[in-house]
Amino acid sequence: MRALAGWTLAALAALIIAGAQISVRAADPERGKAAFDKCAACHGLGDQRDTDGPTLKDLMGRKAGSLEDFRYSAAMKRSGVTWTPATLDTFIADPQGFIKGNRMAFAGITNPAERADLIAYLEQTTSSPIWNRPR
Ligand code: HEC
Repeated sequence: MRALAGWTLAALAALIIAGAQISVRAADPERGKAAFDKCAACHGLGDQRDTDGPTLKDLMGRKAGSLEDFRYSAAMKRSGVTWTPATLDTFIADPQGFIKGNRMAFAGITNPAERADLIAYLEQTTSSPIWNRPR
């Protein structure tokens, strides 16, 4: 009887591990490109200056509020944030919660998988040599 209980536990553990692996899916930059539609109304990825928000070209490794030709809020400039996958994830989840008083009129993306895809896409579009995170 004890042996049977042991087997049951082992089988349960295996099931739990398999379940965890299914839920941890890899971030997909292709899907992130589609998610970027939510940002594209205000952000470009090139050198353009006529959008509502600053260009997100070469975003990773950049200091928040640091583009010379964009008029940021004081909150963004003073935030002391450097854009990395981690800071971007927190920001996109709740822009006002992370940098209080910034003027990005966007409620946030609550789905963590969607944020991960979007961040993978923004990493892929970052060519800056500052951003040489091993992958
Ligand atoms: C309604 C327009 C709008 C939308 C939609 C929007 N943003 Fe913004 N975003 C802005 C504005 C305006 C700023 C500048 C905020 C400030 O200076 O306080 C900004 C700032 C940023 C910054 C800081 C950039 C820097 O140079 O420091 C990041 C990163 C950012 N947005 C990412 C995103 C992402 C990712 C999305 C999509 C999920 C998004 N934004 C959606 C308008 C928008």
